[in-house]
Amino acid sequence: MQDYAHITVEPASRNCGAFISGVDLKSDIGDAAVREIHAALMRHQVVFFRGQDVTPAEQAAFARRFGPLRQARRAAFETRDDVPEVSIIINDKDRPPNIDHFHSDGMFRAKPEFASVLKAEQPAPLGGDTIFVSLTAAWKGLSPTMQAALGDKTAIYDFMRLHSSPEKARNWEGPGREGMIKTRDENPPIEHPLAPRHPVTGEQLIYFSESFTATIMGVSKFESESLHLFLTRHCAKPEFQYRLNWRPGTIAFWDNRSSLHYAVADYWPATRIMHRLTIEADAIGASLVRQAAE
Ligand SMILES: [Fe+2]
Repeated sequence: MQDYAHITVEPASRNCGAFISGVDLKSDIGDAAVREIHAALMRHQVVFFRGQDVTPAEQAAFARRFGPLRQARRAAFETRDDVPEVSIIINDKDRPPNIDHFHSDGMFRAKPEFASVLKAEQPAPLGGDTIFVSLTAAWKGLSPTMQAALGDKTAIYDFMRLHSSPEKARNWEGPGREGMIKTRDENPPIEHPLAPRHPVTGEQLIYFSESFTATIMGVSKFESESLHLFLTRHCAKPEFQYRLNWRPGTIAFWDNRSSLHYAVADYWPATRIMHRLTIEADAIGASLVRQAAE
């Protein structure tokens, strides 16, 4: 067991997620607490904080402790001028929820982003949970035969696998259209290992999502499509999940390299407003890997 001196960590479920308490993210938390939060994130794939009444600028200051932030682009989500790294995910009567599919943010990029920090600004009055999946637990849950078959495979990841679907049509209309075209053009289909080792923990995982994994290489088209269906069902097993109920001020901080998430779309026509930040690179993880190599 890992000991924490500056935070309290309680696992949320057997295989995925942990709640962290004992820190006020509004204040300037010390380096030791930051390192412990990072350690808990590496261990549980996603960590949650309750009752954090932070402004977008404070949320960004917290996230920046873990690495450089990506500038948000007006595409699928809205942005704000005062904190340009914040994406505003707003769903209401006129904008029905449409993120009810398992994915990890940036899986379609050549360099997928490290992490996302999402805050419930105005959670749905009822429903609107987010389901998280541990991809290390999903890998361990495969039979040795399937692990042997998939362990050395690569796959093609494609932004358009998801975004060419009818559910996403409205993202291509109106003010987000230009950003969607840019994101598509900057991210042609890309090949990644299907079962990589996590760059910090070394744990093997299945790097798969129904949304962005397009083709599994080294097998026939029919085999790839069948494996896609199988892995979609496998990665959706409740044993690998934690389902988070949002409250005002709840923050989820997840590692996009080792987890999936799914925004449950059961609250329409109610309003749900979330603030998301994207951490591009894992600065603490990179320094841990460097230290281990020395
Ligand atoms: Fe997402």
